[in-house]
Amino acid sequence: MRTQYYTASSVDGFIADPDNSLDWLLTRDIDEKGPMSYPSFIADVGAVAMGATTYEWLLEHELSKEGATWPYTMPSWVFTHRDLPGGPGADITFTSDDVRDVHRRMSEAAAGKNLWVVGGGDLAGQFADLGLLDELFVQYAPVTLGGGAPLLPRRIELRLEEVARNRDFTCARYTVVR
Ligand SMILES: NC(=O)c1ccc[n+]([C@@H]2O[C@H](COP(=O)([O-])OP(=O)(O)OC[C@H]3O[C@@H](n4cnc5c(N)ncnc54)[C@H](OP(=O)(O)O)[C@@H]3O)[C@@H](O)[C@H]2O)c1
Repeated sequence: MRTQYYTASSVDGFIADPDNSLDWLLTRDIDEKGPMSYPSFIADVGAVAMGATTYEWLLEHELSKEGATWPYTMPSWVFTHRDLPGGPGADITFTSDDVRDVHRRMSEAAAGKNLWVVGGGDLAGQFADLGLLDELFVQYAPVTLGGGAPLLPRRIELRLEEVARNRDFTCARYTVVR
């Protein structure tokens, strides 16, 4: 079981632009059967965690569509200090509990599968601060944004394990060096 931060990023290290938009990302070409693609990644994930801004983005852009359901079949934790609305058909726990406690509950729920920290970058950093982050997968889109939500606003030593091109994207997998 590994705790993984899997995300797309601009080349200059932002996962959303200053308007919290992903338009710069969602227009790009990727082969869903290609290297480090989402289907092969998610197949081994047993629990997910995300921050409130990422959750609100999903609510606004994905779950507002006619007939849309929560995209994750595995238990999900959303970190927030607020009382946010639930998603349709979703197994979501809203929490402001200690990250270590949530990680333990996620591990139990995942039953040996991996844990995915969806984002944002600071939440991934909070897991890393506690020595709980094992891997970082980044798909770099061919664009710089000049600002926005940072990829991972910490200093963390990484080892490059794998690199591949998937159409528009440079895909890299790193392990966290402890
Ligand atoms: N490029 C990609 O593939 C990708 C992937 C993921 C996300 N994104 C985008 O990137 C942006 C990320 O936004 P963001 O940097 O603001 O990060 P975020 O982690 O999505 O949200 C941050 C918020 O989460 C809550 N939070 C974080 N840690 C917490 C803790 N320990 N306890 C309780 N609440 C906690 C706080 O919300 P409150 O206190 O306000 O409740 C905080 O303001 C979003 O626009 C998202 O859509 C892009």
